[in-house]
Amino acid sequence: RERPDVRSIKQRLLVVANRLPVSAVRRGEDSWSLEISAGGLVSALLGVKEFEARWIGWAGVNVPDEVGQKALTKALAEKKCIPVFLDEEIVHQYYNGYCNNILWPLFHYLGLPQEDRLATTRSFQSQFAAYKKANQMFADVVNQHYEEGDVVWCHDYHLMFLPKCLKEYNNRMKVGWFLHTPFPSSEIHRTLPSRSELLHAVLAADLVGFHTYDYARHFVSACTRILGLEGTPEGVEDQGRVTRVAAFPIGIDSERFIRALEVPQVQEHIKELKERFSGRKVMLGVDRLDMIKGIPQKILAFEKFLEENQYWRDKVVLLQIAVPTRTDVPEYQKLTSQVHEIVGRINGRFGTLTAVPIHHLDRSLDFHALCALYAVTDVALVTSLRDGMNLVSYEFVACQDSRKGVLILSEFAGAAQSLGAGAILVNPWNITEVASAIGQALNMDADEREKRHRHNFEHVTTHTAQQWAEFFVSELNDTVIEAQQRIRK
Ligand code: G6P
Repeated sequence: RERPDVRSIKQRLLVVANRLPVSAVRRGEDSWSLEISAGGLVSALLGVKEFEARWIGWAGVNVPDEVGQKALTKALAEKKCIPVFLDEEIVHQYYNGYCNNILWPLFHYLGLPQEDRLATTRSFQSQFAAYKKANQMFADVVNQHYEEGDVVWCHDYHLMFLPKCLKEYNNRMKVGWFLHTPFPSSEIHRTLPSRSELLHAVLAADLVGFHTYDYARHFVSACTRILGLEGTPEGVEDQGRVTRVAAFPIGIDSERFIRALEVPQVQEHIKELKERFSGRKVMLGVDRLDMIKGIPQKILAFEKFLEENQYWRDKVVLLQIAVPTRTDVPEYQKLTSQVHEIVGRINGRFGTLTAVPIHHLDRSLDFHALCALYAVTDVALVTSLRDGMNLVSYEFVACQDSRKGVLILSEFAGAAQSLGAGAILVNPWNITEVASAIGQALNMDADEREKRHRHNFEHVTTHTAQQWAEFFVSELNDTVIEAQQRIRK
């Protein structure tokens, strides 16, 4: 009998993330329409040729009936996606509650919720219980689909418990966990009531990855200070077992953006936008409408700039794309009204009968529209109060080769470590500093813009999402082999 050619068998990669990279809309009792959303992770894994990736995650919709679940599972299978079904109560407690109202703000240095103490404690406990339950549900699905030799890559703060649940099922599973947000200083992590349980659960993974060296260092400090474990050059050691901890800065599929600029529809759009804003410099913000993005701070800095620079008032426009997100969480609802109020006030103050200084859109743009917008932008403003990486800054750079616009970038975004030399770095809390950075960017001469842009473009096109994914997975394979060799010795 012929033997299969082992070289042609690709290693299977199970990518586990809270959200599947599709949006699912129900069309009938047993029919669904699916749209792939090509975020960073999807394009990273599409480019990785040596693995066969499958996705496991929540489809973002409530499907209470069996007929609907079966039909959705079947439709998703064609996209190599496997759903985890979460009911409304779990979504409320795990996703809206523990993930987005507790971990997300805490990891971005916004602290724990501070309402009535007792009420918080009670809801905290039930939300944490739901978080663990949801993580176990993800683990159950992974376990059903796992085959010997697969690599399991868990993503983000939603799934910190998952490595532990997976290793309880099968200690030989190769498990990696990557955090897409910052990991805060250990002094911040210390305030979390479930601080130790979460750290122990993550440490069950073989490899733990972060965007920057600082986040990795904070994580190791949390393990040494809170759990009393030993930090080693490789990571964290617990009774002879080492969990490797390292930095893997993500990138984008820069080619996809560069190619998009050649598409006739995009070129047409670029032409229209140039006509629309002719005689004015275009400043751009693209963010999910999230408190970590510093949108009010950005707009207030723009107001201060207009206040102090009368010359620029009719010569610059700020386009702010604010994509609605997590709209069931009250903090996000409050932010929306706050931003609308500030924008309204500034447009009332500086607008004329024919033009307003800020165009604020509460929606997302499709990929091509976004690329066109990046391409006509003179100054991009990223003012995150904290941000794991911030790939908008990378996308802007990728689309700027002909214009050589300026990037104003928060020093609290992970991207500041890679694009810092090309961008103007700012402290987004310092409105005066951001206002003067706007002036510096608008007045920057062409040589300086070219020099800064070259630096950033070089980085963005040589540190891609594909390389990031390959690097993480090969490191995970190596880590497991090394650990096995240590045990054999
Ligand atoms: C951040 C998180 C992701 C998350 C995304 C969108 O980038 O790190 O894990 O998927 O925000 O948020 P959402 O809550 O809509 O999934």
